[in-house]
This record gives sequence, C-alpha cells and structure tokens, in this order.
Amino acid sequence: MSNSGIHEADGCSIRPLFVCHKGFHKQMNVDVLLGLQWGDEGKGKVVDVLTPEYDLVCRFQGGPNAGHTLEFNGQKYVLRSVPSGIFQGGKVNIIGNGVVLDPALFKAEVEQLKASGHPLTNRLLISKKAHLILPTHRLLDAANEAAKGNSKIGTTGKGIGPTYTDKISRNGLRVGDLLDNFDAKYKAAIARHETILHQMNFSYDLAPLEKTWFEGIECLKEFTFIDSEHYINQALKAGKSVLCEGAQGTMLDVDFGSYPFVTSSNTICAGACTGLGVAPRSIGNVYGIFKAYCTRVGSGPFPTELFDETGQALRDNGHEYGSVTGRPRRCGWVDLVALRYAIMINGVTDLIMMKSDVMDNFDTIKACVAYRVKGVETEDFPFDINEGVEPVYTEIPGWKTDMSHVQSENEFPEEFNNYLSFLEDELGVRIKIVSVGPDREQTIIRYND
Ligand code: GDP
Ligand code: IMO
Ligand code: MG
Repeated sequence: MSNSGIHEADGCSIRPLFVCHKGFHKQMNVDVLLGLQWGDEGKGKVVDVLTPEYDLVCRFQGGPNAGHTLEFNGQKYVLRSVPSGIFQGGKVNIIGNGVVLDPALFKAEVEQLKASGHPLTNRLLISKKAHLILPTHRLLDAANEAAKGNSKIGTTGKGIGPTYTDKISRNGLRVGDLLDNFDAKYKAAIARHETILHQMNFSYDLAPLEKTWFEGIECLKEFTFIDSEHYINQALKAGKSVLCEGAQGTMLDVDFGSYPFVTSSNTICAGACTGLGVAPRSIGNVYGIFKAYCTRVGSGPFPTELFDETGQALRDNGHEYGSVTGRPRRCGWVDLVALRYAIMINGVTDLIMMKSDVMDNFDTIKACVAYRVKGVETEDFPFDINEGVEPVYTEIPGWKTDMSHVQSENEFPEEFNNYLSFLEDELGVRIKIVSVGPDREQTIIRYND
C-alpha cells in the first residue's frame, strides 16, 4: 500500500522514530482513523480495538454530535466527546483543540462512565483551545433549523454549527477561558446570542439550560486542561505513538462533503493536523473506515439510498438507529464513487470494512461503481450530488453464511473473498480489517504491516 511503498522506497522502518538513509529524522508515528461515508461507520469500535498499539488516543474535531459505540464483555458504551481509547488501560486520551465541548453533556458522559466502573479524571486531558458549546449555541442551532423550514439540515441539535461559527468569526469561548475572568466573557457572548435569538423571534427558556451547563463546568474543572499541541508533540519527540479518532465522516466534511448538508468541521485527515497541532509529515497510516453498505442520518443527498424492503432489511439487520438521537438511519448500497473520492481526499493507506454480517442473508449485493449525471456516466464525484445523480450498479453474489462467528480470514466463504477482492480492485487500497459484529472480539485483522 502507499504507506509501505513509501517506506520500502526510502529503505526505512517506521515507529517510533526512524532515520532515513538521507540522514534526516522523520516522525511518522501519528495514525488517523476516520469515516469515509456519512458517519456511524463504526469508528468507536475500531479505535478501541487498535488502542493497545498506541500511547495516546486523541479526538480532533466534532463534538457531542458524535455517538461512538463500543461493545465488550457483554456491555455497550456510547461515547460522544470522550475518545474511544478510554477503555484500554494505561493510555492517555486527549480532547483536542479542534473539538467543541458541551460541559453539560460532558458531565453526563463522565458520570455514566464512572457509574459503569470507568472513572476518567486521571486518564483524560482536555485542550485549553477546545471551544465551548454554550447553552445559547444549542438554541441557535434549533432556531437556524426552524428558519430553514423544508431545507433544514437535520442537525443533531447539539449547537455544533453555531459554536464553530463563533470560532471562525472569532467570537468563541475556549476551555482555557475558564481560567481567567470567565463570567464577563460568558455574559457578553450570551447577550450577543440573545440579540440574534430575539431577532429570529425564537422563544426559549435559558434558565434550566444554564443550570445544567454550569453544573457541567464544575465537572469539567476537575479535569486537567493542557496545551495539547505541546503535549502531543513532546510525546512524539519521546517516541510515543498517537491514534487520532475522527468523528462524523468524509461525506459530512464542511469542504468536501455533500454541502450544505454537512457538519461544520473538517472531518478529513487534514482535520487531525489542525485539530491537534500535529504536522502533516507526522501522519503515517490513514485508516479509512466504511460499512459494507451505506447509511446516513439527517437530510441531504444519498444517491444509493433504498426505499424498499432491502433498505428496511439493512436497517433491521444492522440496527440502524442513531446511537445518540435514536433517529432511523437511511440505508442504501455501498457507493464506490463516493468512497474513491474519500480515499483520495484523505490519502487512505488501509481500509476497514464494517458490518458485512448485516448482509449475510442477501442473495446478491449491489455496489455503485459509477454515477449517471444528466445522462452521462462518470466515475468522478461531481460538484453537486443534490440533484440528478443516478447510480450505476454492479451485482455481486452474496455469501449466505453467518459471518458473526468467523474467527479468521481462512473461514471466509469464497463469495465473501470475492466481494473483498472486488472492492480492493475498485478502490485501489487493501482492506486491513473486517468487522463481523459489534463486539471487540468480532474483528478480523488481515495483515499487520
Ligand atoms: P461510529 O459513530 O462510527 O463510532 O459508529 P456508531 O457507533 O454510531 O454506529 C455503528 C453501530 O454499528 C454501532 O451500534 C456498533 O455497535 C455497530 N457495529 C460496529 N461494527 C459492527 C459490525 O461489524 N457488525 C454489526 N452488526 N454491528 C457493528
Ligand atoms: P459519528 O461521529 C452521523 C449529521 C447530522 C446532520 C449533519 C449536521 O457518530 O459518526 P450537526 O449536528 O453536526 O450540525 O449535523 O451531520 N451528523 C452525523 N451523522 N454520525 C455522526 O457522528 C454525525 N454527526 C453529525 O445528522 O445530518
Ligand atoms: Mg455514530
């Protein structure tokens, strides 16, 4: 794969630090794991599985719009702001500067984890530069959605867009602001938001939101706030390795996703650089994760969406209901045009395929290999997929085998191997991991280079 290719050509070995024959030091011990579709690919599960290989696990963007599910020892956990490396002992977990944090939801998450025997205080560090989601950001999110009427985005309602808007317009409040004269800054921000809410004729009751928010602030203050860019770079210098955990997915990226039906952050690999302060040359492996089919929640285009009983079968078999909102996820066939685009944007070195077990009973499986746009077939992802994009499908025989108990690649049925080869040929990248169920154990790692 591209990564191993580069190293072979350079005659170098990786991790933790290596010296090229040209004589300069190069750090390549940051790996990134991110979603290639519209989110909910299974990032949380795989970050948890890969964490033993790393020293630090860091979230770099998004906020509690994420819901990352992990299952082990018969228990299920859903993480929203806390990185998914938290359940593997002895690892440092960091909420990076690119993340937006809601203290009220953070407190609920911390308390849930504590109640289930996973206290966090000494294992989670928070960037001073992470932006705070204020109670009024959530109200503004709701007001913006209401104002959009039929063209609403279908946001998670967590205040993500307004918080990033304030960050970019240089009006945001950061975790580090809690350390100095916070009340005045908070009041000024709330006053500004309330003016907008009044202009929008949006009625609301701020007091109960503020109460839980300030309780959340007290919880947040029990954690250590750090200059995470320094911390991470010092760790890298000391030879430590870092796994960056993406939230959402490439098709929800604010620049490259199905705009305007996207989230408000850069969900792509470059987001790990800006969201943690790691240099682009530090990035080694980029793990691109996708479902063997495709889902999306909220509004917006979805070329391969199925409205028939096959779509319902995917939803039922895959339990495709939002892990945070419970909203039914829209389901469809895998979209290789969008995946190729996502692989290109992220420089994916290895693919991770999730939830193939969901299609165990299918006679045939379809994969979208091209789009027909205004009658013209193309394999390139177009500027706008909002209208007039028709998928062109290839059919592949199903494997008709219960994959959930498969323990190794040797047990894969022939048809399943054919599906993997077909995808690797179409996408030009190897599939490193195949997931055959939600549990940590239901994970097959096909190679280790
Ligand atoms: P994330 O946001 O990318 O972390 O993904 P979510 O947690 O929102 O959604 C993935 C869902 O699929 C969760 O309910 C997982 O427990 C579940 N899951 C993950 N991998 C597999 C798999 O291989 N098979 C099945 N059947 N479920 C899986
Ligand atoms: P994880 O990390 C799936 C979607 C919302 C909406 C759009 C914008 O669990 O994969 P926002 O609240 O971010 O302003 O909503 O993005 N969305 C997600 N969809 N998984 C997620 O996160 C998502 N986070 C946001 O449904 O369409
Ligand atoms: Mg999710």
